[in-house]
Amino acid sequence: MTPLPTPLPGGTWTLGGLTVTRFGYGAMQLAGPGVMGPPDDHDGALAVLREVVELGITHIDTADAYGPRVTNQLIREALHPYPDSLHIVTKVGADRDQQGGWPPAREPENLRRFVDSNLEDLDLDVLDGVNLRLGNAQGPQPGSLAEPFETLVELQQRGLIRHLGVSNVTAEQVTEARAIAPIVCVQNMYNLAYRHDDELIDTLAEEGIAYVPFFPLGGFSPLQSSALSTVAARLDATPMSVALAWLLQRSTNILLIPGTSSAAHLRENVAGAGLSLSDDELAELNRIGRR
Ligand SMILES: NC(=O)c1ccc[n+]([C@@H]2O[C@H](COP(=O)([O-])OP(=O)(O)OC[C@H]3O[C@@H](n4cnc5c(N)ncnc54)[C@H](OP(=O)(O)O)[C@@H]3O)[C@@H](O)[C@H]2O)c1
Repeated sequence: MTPLPTPLPGGTWTLGGLTVTRFGYGAMQLAGPGVMGPPDDHDGALAVLREVVELGITHIDTADAYGPRVTNQLIREALHPYPDSLHIVTKVGADRDQQGGWPPAREPENLRRFVDSNLEDLDLDVLDGVNLRLGNAQGPQPGSLAEPFETLVELQQRGLIRHLGVSNVTAEQVTEARAIAPIVCVQNMYNLAYRHDDELIDTLAEEGIAYVPFFPLGGFSPLQSSALSTVAARLDATPMSVALAWLLQRSTNILLIPGTSSAAHLRENVAGAGLSLSDDELAELNRIGRR
């Protein structure tokens, strides 16, 4: 087996006052098919979460919409009482329906309900981070976030949330949120092949705000590109490893939350993300998303 890197690739980042490893873990893949219901392999899911902590990862991304409530309950079962170093970031703003859809639910009473259920399922008194999830499955949608964001600020002032973030948002919504209260992270879709947020990432880096790409490996449709496969083959690495290493090298404010339901994939991703990509390789990879 390939020896795993210590410290983790990418080092650490300070999220508000909290130190997190830039190599984090996204828990969504632990729920059942369609992110609904329990996993087929309950013990396997617990084993992945324990491996996350054993590898030294200190940032887990979750949401009580996953399952719903399934991934949070798995996190508690596997890891509670949590190590002091571990920081769990969740998100609110979407519900689940009987068909597995993700209807928006951003009214104050819904946001309060979601914060309460996250606290209950994770068995915490305060949530380290909460992202307000906007937009829809097609991506960010324009419009004011003032009302739902102010509700989260109120819950933060009540001591239920340490740090706020926003997710699936436009650059204008990031600006609007920051005019209301400080945010520590933005979580949007971004990867080697999908680079709509290049400018936003650079702006956030200058401001010391983390950018946390979701679907870093392409999500439900894994990244496929002949240029990516060519570079990976030359480096004797997997395309997944190259995609993660590229993100870590893209900007120091990028935090990884790749998802997996497999402990073997988790170890493979940690081992692979530390690849050092040369300027020529970066230029070749940069052409994928900029064509
Ligand atoms: N804010 C939002 O709206 C939003 C939306 C979506 C996701 N998220 C967050 O972002 C996180 C990451 O997104 P994601 O999990 O959907 O997508 P992802 O990280 O881009 O990809 C996950 C997929 O890649 C596969 N995979 C991982 N490592 C692999 C490897 N080494 N070899 C082969 N396949 C591999 C996984 O399958 P296996 O299980 O078989 O490894 C899974 O199907 C989620 O967990 C969630 O926390 C947020």
